[in-house]
Parts: sequence; C-alpha cells; structure tokens
Amino acid sequence: MENKKYIVGNMKMNLNFEEIEVYFNQMKEIAKNEQVIFCPTDLYVPYFIEQGYHTGVQTTSEYAKGAYTGELSAVQAASIGCTHTILGHSERRVMFHETDDIVARKVRQALNFDLSVILCVGESEEERKNGTMEAVLKRELEAVFVTLTEEEAKKVMIAYEPIWAIGTGSVPTNEEIKYAIDTIQTILKSFGITESTILYGGSVNDSNISELNQIDNVSGFLVGGACLNAVKFLSMIEVVLK
Ligand code: PGA
Repeated sequence: MENKKYIVGNMKMNLNFEEIEVYFNQMKEIAKNEQVIFCPTDLYVPYFIEQGYHTGVQTTSEYAKGAYTGELSAVQAASIGCTHTILGHSERRVMFHETDDIVARKVRQALNFDLSVILCVGESEEERKNGTMEAVLKRELEAVFVTLTEEEAKKVMIAYEPIWAIGTGSVPTNEEIKYAIDTIQTILKSFGITESTILYGGSVNDSNISELNQIDNVSGFLVGGACLNAVKFLSMIEVVLK
C-alpha cells in the first residue's frame, strides 16, 4: 500500500479575486508538491494551474456536455489541466439533492476523462446515533464501486467525512476515525479492492492536524474552512508532507 499522504483544500464558494491574489502571495513553493491539491471555486481554477499548483474542482457533471446551464463537465476540467474532482460531498448530497446514483454517474464521467476522484462518504449525526453508520458507508461506497474495474478503482481516493464534523469544530476521536476507516477498508475488500487511499475530513485545522496525523490508517486530509488562510494551510501542509 502506498504510504504517501495527501492534503486537499476544498475552498468551497469562498474568496474574491483580491483575496486570491493575497493567497498566492502568501503561499509557498512547498504547496506545489503533488500531494497537495487545491480545489478553488471553478472561476479561479486556471489561476491555480498557471501558478503551478495541483488543482481539482469541487464537483463535475454527470453529463459529458450539452445544454446544462451552470454545470462543468469532467472533460472540461481535465482539458484545462485539473487532476481531481471532489464527488459526493455531503453539501452536494444534502443541499443539491445528489443521490448515490447521481454520484456514481459523476464518478463514471470523471474516470472516462482521466480525472481522479476524491469520493466523500460519511454519516449524519442521527445515523451515527441510531447505529447505521456502517450501513451508510456501505451504501455510499457500493453505489460507486460496483461499477468500477480494479484499475478504475485506483483512481478513486476516499474522504471519510462525518457530516456532523463538517464546519462544526466537532471532531471524532482518533479511535472513532480509525474505526470508520477500518470499516471502509473492510467494505472495499468485499468488493475485491485491497489498496485504497482514505482521507479524513471535518473540522481539521492547524491545531488538531498533528494529532489526527497519528492515526495509522489515515492517508491525509480534506480541509475546508482552514485552507482559506494561506499561512495556516501552509503549516498544515508541512505537517502532512514531513
Ligand atoms: P471543514 O470542511 O474543514 O470546514 O469542516 C471540510 C469539508 O467540507 O470538506
């Protein structure tokens, strides 16, 4: 299994153009490492690529092209030089009603055009409380992985993101994260997938990343709010790359 660790910045719908310029001025060369992936708002993607950063998008369409106002296709993202697309983020699942089937179709489109996928899975607070976390993870993973070949599966990185931890400051314990990732690995093994890269996401910041980085089955982090401050994000990148 690959030991490389990754850190992905999901900038969501944040930062205006002036703030992006300040961000570039504060960011350092180390962030151009291929294990660091920036996912800015689509509008800023070309700037990140021009500056030499590994760049992904926050979602891509389930369709290849056509009359889908406001959508961005995987082939468009790949053709400009994006390397990754985040799919199945809970904000897309919950606020934009993306079902497991839609997520699976988006993954198919992305892989058809050689875009690597960061697939987000994770339970809500209610699902955790009523003991269905394992079933939720299985359902979300199965929808995607049953359609993939072994080669294709290698292009899908998973981000375990408990919904109740996103943007809330509540982080599971290291033991809880380890258990969830073990569960994901067991589910993947049942589909014949023995090698996987699994990130943790949900309120990771410059104060807790060193402790979270101790979890032995975590292959890196998906960071939201804390990646918006270049100085803080740099200190987190240093923890992951060292
Ligand atoms: P957060 O977001 O770090 O702000 O909790 C993580 C995410 O949504 O990917």
